[in-house]
Formats: sequence, structure tokens, C-alpha cells
Amino acid sequence: MACRLSIFNMKGGVAKSTTTYNLAVGLVKFHNQRVLLIDIDPQGNSSAALGLWTENNGGCGNA
Ligand SMILES: Nc1ncnc2c1ncn2[C@@H]1O[C@H](COP(=O)(O)OP(=O)(O)OP(=O)(O)O)[C@@H](O)[C@H]1O
Ligand SMILES: [Mg+2]
Repeated sequence: MACRLSIFNMKGGVAKSTTTYNLAVGLVKFHNQRVLLIDIDPQGNSSAALGLWTENNGGCGNA
């Protein structure tokens, strides 16, 4: 069964991206879940944490 999780807070810099990324990694590594992490933040922090975002590729990495 699919489950949707949202991490949100109006305040900036309170670890939304960090929580999202680590939650996704934890679900995959420790709970054998398949996770689709959708990063729609122009900052691309979650993508960068996964090695998918660099200054040169605009977020279209191969990792
Ligand atoms: N548990 C923690 N301990 C120390 N630093 C942390 C922790 N969680 C996050 N940080 C740091 O706090 C900063 C902000 O985290 P993050 O980018 O996840 O916040 P955000 O809410 O997504 O910010 P934004 O509103 O800009 O998107 C980052 O530099 C991150 O490394
Ligand atoms: Mg963020």
C-alpha cells in the first residue's frame, strides 16, 4: 500500500530537507521500502544530498 508523507513548516532553515532526505534513506535502508522522493525545491538540497544535483548539471545527474 502506498503512503504519502509530507514534511512542512513555514519557517526556513528548520531541517525540512534534512528530515525528508534522512527519512527516505532510513525507510529504504532499514525498512526495505521503495521510496519516491520528489524534490520540487529550486534549492535542490535533497537532490544534492543524493548526489543528483551539481552546479554543472542543473539537477540531472546520473547517481
Ligand atoms: N539535526 C541537525 N543538527 C545540526 N544541524 C542540522 C540538523 N538538521 C539540519 N541541520 C542543518 O540545518 C541547516 C538547515 O537544514 P535544511 O536545509 O534541511 O532546512 P530547510 O528547512 O529545508 O531549509 P529551507 O527552508 O531553506 O529549505 C542545514 O545546514 C543543515 O545541515
Ligand atoms: Mg529545504
